[in-house]
Amino acid sequence: MAETLTIRRPDDWHLHLRDGDMLKLVAPYTARQFRRAIVMPNLVPPITTAAAAAAYRERIRAAAGPDSDFEPLMTAYLTDTIDPQEIARGFEAGILTACKLYPAGATTNSQSGVTDIRKIDAVLAVMAQIGMPLLIHGEVTTADIDIFDRERVFLERILGPTMDRFPDLRIVLEHITTSDSVEFVRAGGENIAATITAHHLRIDRNDMLAGGIRPHLYCLPVAKRRQHKEALRAIVATGHPKFFLGTDSAPHARCDKESACGCAGIFSAPVALESYAETFEELGCLEHLSAFAGEHGPRFYRLPLNEGTVTLERTGLDIPVRIDPDGQQLTPFHAGERLNWRLTDR
Ligand code: NCD
Ligand code: ZN
Repeated sequence: MAETLTIRRPDDWHLHLRDGDMLKLVAPYTARQFRRAIVMPNLVPPITTAAAAAAYRERIRAAAGPDSDFEPLMTAYLTDTIDPQEIARGFEAGILTACKLYPAGATTNSQSGVTDIRKIDAVLAVMAQIGMPLLIHGEVTTADIDIFDRERVFLERILGPTMDRFPDLRIVLEHITTSDSVEFVRAGGENIAATITAHHLRIDRNDMLAGGIRPHLYCLPVAKRRQHKEALRAIVATGHPKFFLGTDSAPHARCDKESACGCAGIFSAPVALESYAETFEELGCLEHLSAFAGEHGPRFYRLPLNEGTVTLERTGLDIPVRIDPDGQQLTPFHAGERLNWRLTDR
């Protein structure tokens, strides 16, 4: 009998599913691994209304397949001019779970993002009042700040002052990559938490840049130096309840990644749980995986925990170099590697 690991059915608290053919291709991977996911709204055009979110949710459900009970949790994309009442109505109707703040220019499809956080004060006030979480891509975008410093500077210049102005606002700092963010969230109040990706627990900037440039490891926020990865690993190893699973799986066609100006994003959906399990086993903290993947997130979002379990087997999993049933030529995280754990089919 293979060694097994059984955990509560998990959720992905940060995910890009895209739309159209790409959505149809990638959604089943997430639906196989996770019961729910917080779906990012950075489509073109972005999701800025409850109606658009509801329609997108239907397309996602269709893409997940008729046998799936996958539940997409929808978000709205904040712009300088978004209507606070539209957000509140969407939240109260159960269509919108949260709002996403992309500083304009920070990442893929962020050109409609917020140019100055003070422009959305009215939205933040309403969100604080109704308890709607604000999900933040925490990087400054000014050209004078080095890309490896953009997350740390965001904490000082934007996040700290915003939390002072809206002390009741509930915030998830997404896909954190630095020891500074770990410390900021750990030391903060009960209203701030953070997601951590599978890849930022495993790669540092050397993996991306030393001995050749590896575009499939390029994402935003960009992987930092090793000591920052170690800080992320150290906090999850403690089982701290303010840190939870968010893959930030962000598929781009291979030609858009392997390009003179390649897109940011790592497609980890097909191997997410296996990758986290590999890391937690290395850290000797497999006993914390279930809560990291299935309890800390819903508790912060004030949603019920999932019923049921999933099981991983220690039989080994070979990750294909390419996932290409439809000509999209997607390269998954861990392409060509062998991982110890394999999620079993339910
Ligand atoms: C994301 C994408 O491609 O949509 N890319 C990424 O590198 N993570 C956007 C984002 O979350 O920054
Ligand atoms: Zn993302």
